[in-house]
Amino acid sequence: MMRLSYFKKFFVLAVACVCGLQYAGAQDARYPIIPYPTSLTSAAGSFNISAATRVTDISSKFANEVTQLNQLVKQGIGVALKQSNKTGAIIFKYDASVIAEEGYRLTITPQQLTITAGTPTGAYRAVETIRQLLPAGIEGGGVKLKQLTLPALTVNDQPAYAWRGMHLDVSRHFFSISYLRKFIDIMALYKMNKFHLHLTDDQGWRVEIKKYPKLTSEGAWRTFNNQDSACMKKAKDNPDFIIDPKHIVKKNGKTMYGGFYTQQQLKDLVIYAATKHIDIIPEIDMPGHMMAAINSYPFLTCNGENKFGELFSKPICPANESTYEFAQNVFTEIMDIFPSKYIHIGGDEVDRTDWERSATVKDFMKQHEIKDMAALHSYFINRMEKFFNAKGRKLIGWDEVIEGGISPTAIIMYWRGWVPDAPVKAAKNGNTVIMTPGEPLYFDNLPDQYSIYKVYHFNPIPAKLNSEEAKSIIGAQANIWSEMIPSENRADYMFMPRMTALAERLWTSNQDDYKSYLKRLISHYKRLDNLKVHYRLPDLPNMVTENVFIDKDTLNIKKPMANMQIRYTTDGSLPLVTSKALGERLIINSPQTIKVAAFTPIGSRGDIYTLNYKKQTYAPAEKAANTTMGLSATYYKAFFKQTSLISKAIADSTFTTNAIAVPSSVNAPSFAITYRGYIEIPTTGVYTFYLNCDDGGILKIAGRMVVDNDGNHSAIEKNGQVALGKGLQPFALDFIEGGGGFALKLKYSFNGSALAEVPASWFKH
Ligand code: ACM
Repeated sequence: MMRLSYFKKFFVLAVACVCGLQYAGAQDARYPIIPYPTSLTSAAGSFNISAATRVTDISSKFANEVTQLNQLVKQGIGVALKQSNKTGAIIFKYDASVIAEEGYRLTITPQQLTITAGTPTGAYRAVETIRQLLPAGIEGGGVKLKQLTLPALTVNDQPAYAWRGMHLDVSRHFFSISYLRKFIDIMALYKMNKFHLHLTDDQGWRVEIKKYPKLTSEGAWRTFNNQDSACMKKAKDNPDFIIDPKHIVKKNGKTMYGGFYTQQQLKDLVIYAATKHIDIIPEIDMPGHMMAAINSYPFLTCNGENKFGELFSKPICPANESTYEFAQNVFTEIMDIFPSKYIHIGGDEVDRTDWERSATVKDFMKQHEIKDMAALHSYFINRMEKFFNAKGRKLIGWDEVIEGGISPTAIIMYWRGWVPDAPVKAAKNGNTVIMTPGEPLYFDNLPDQYSIYKVYHFNPIPAKLNSEEAKSIIGAQANIWSEMIPSENRADYMFMPRMTALAERLWTSNQDDYKSYLKRLISHYKRLDNLKVHYRLPDLPNMVTENVFIDKDTLNIKKPMANMQIRYTTDGSLPLVTSKALGERLIINSPQTIKVAAFTPIGSRGDIYTLNYKKQTYAPAEKAANTTMGLSATYYKAFFKQTSLISKAIADSTFTTNAIAVPSSVNAPSFAITYRGYIEIPTTGVYTFYLNCDDGGILKIAGRMVVDNDGNHSAIEKNGQVALGKGLQPFALDFIEGGGGFALKLKYSFNGSALAEVPASWFKH
């Protein structure tokens, strides 16, 4: 151990007095742990691990966890530690009084490192805490140090939620087994514990089923589809959208995309995940999302048809015994591969119209006294649940399965943000519930500057549940649907670092730690670089895409991390590591387009921002007599792809409002609202407006386009500037909602002020 001079000793002791605090913020640099432990008490000094350090597993219960720790040590100092029957400086101690399944205590003093746990899972979670205290250089095997230094502390830790899940759709685009291992590694680093593998869907069947070989010999392969072509289009600007060439093959002279996992590969993966105490939960999605299977086994349908209906693909037929025989045979093999207590049957997005038309279905419903199609859907799920239960497993289904009545023993995975009562209904029915609402937990939604905040502040407990009912919510999960994720780099970008926010939310569950979390997160990027994780870089702050200047404007960008370099182009090309570096500032005095991006020292590029600059004069205010408060709004009950189509529709109703928000009375699944009137501008100047909407919206002020956020999309914020004279300015906002979760928010900023809602008093008509 390094000897301390008197002065240093005094200093450390003085600090120790302060840092007995359990507040995370004070200790971000010394203990940059994510998720932050439930309780951490800092201490002075440090513990060194060298080749001479010995490990003792007192009760011989933690062999795997000793191996896991030793792998990290070996990455750091080149050798694994020897074990000793006598007390080594590192001790794994079994203690039944640590009762939480994943709980552990960790004490580090200058002399001793002690992990105490009641289960191997708890001991493993402690190893991951230690890992985050070790130098980032140990990851990826880049360094060989003489010793590894850990800061002293006492941690008492256990998770707030039992289900801390990540989902990956390997059907729409396929991912190699080696990527699944990497995914599991990253989950483990952040103490996530449930890996939900979405193995089958319309676009590909990805698991070998011995009884039905065509599921993979045919169902795992496809010619490029419209999702592939959409990715290829985007690949022109972003190589992460290049379809992974590993999964493109030539079959009978045709170019095919796909792949599948053999049962042995998956069994090995299960064992690998188990060493990190992560369960793999397989999903075989039925009765909908089954096109890949029906292609080869058309007997599964009611009428032999296999195509997309209005919204979803045609499902398998719940009125044929052969369907149940198939489903049970498939799940029998699935259960043989996956020992998980939980098996996911999907059950979402079922087009029931074919069922309605089938005489067999009618007879079946009469015979079983099934009253409607939702009940028939539930009949299928409930019957499969009995089969699962008989094999000692629990069934999980997406929340649609509760519509027709569901057994209270099924586990409900909530996803439909636009049906907020679904988890409440499920919990009140006695079901266990896992929360995965699209907003903010669909990680296939494009990340932006708000995503991490939203994930961090997500509360898994719906407000309508009392404390007893809240116990039904066992945790949450982020889902990654891969229609637009054709590569491993793109997948990394979509889930990292968002997953770290979810990890802390579900483990530590203290929203007040957000500032501290952001600071700790910065120190994780080095580790993630070494692990070759292509995470999304931190956002450049306060970027405005549609800029307006009168005489000139200045572009200066504060780097979110000191070691980043910001580079730009003005010729429309994408910024590269070789592009011009942005100095302190750039003066803009002519209309132009600037593309900027941040680069890390290893050359990873952050999001590219396209900044358009246009010259304007201040729009003169209008004179309007007899205005009253609020805007006049018109409501249209119809589906629109673009706001420009609203003008062709017939209005349903009109109302006056001073709030840019979807009124609570609106309940149509698809609709549009237009807002007209004036906005009263208090001071002449250049204003920035931020329009966040799901789906599309267009904001015009003084007849000028300010924000174009049009089209059918999830919640996205776009911004734009406009030069406005003081007084009344014509205001026009068009909003469309296509279906699914909706959002509508308008904020502004003036002269660099913080973003604020546009005050209600500014709206007139
Ligand atoms: C889902 O997103 N269809 C569960």
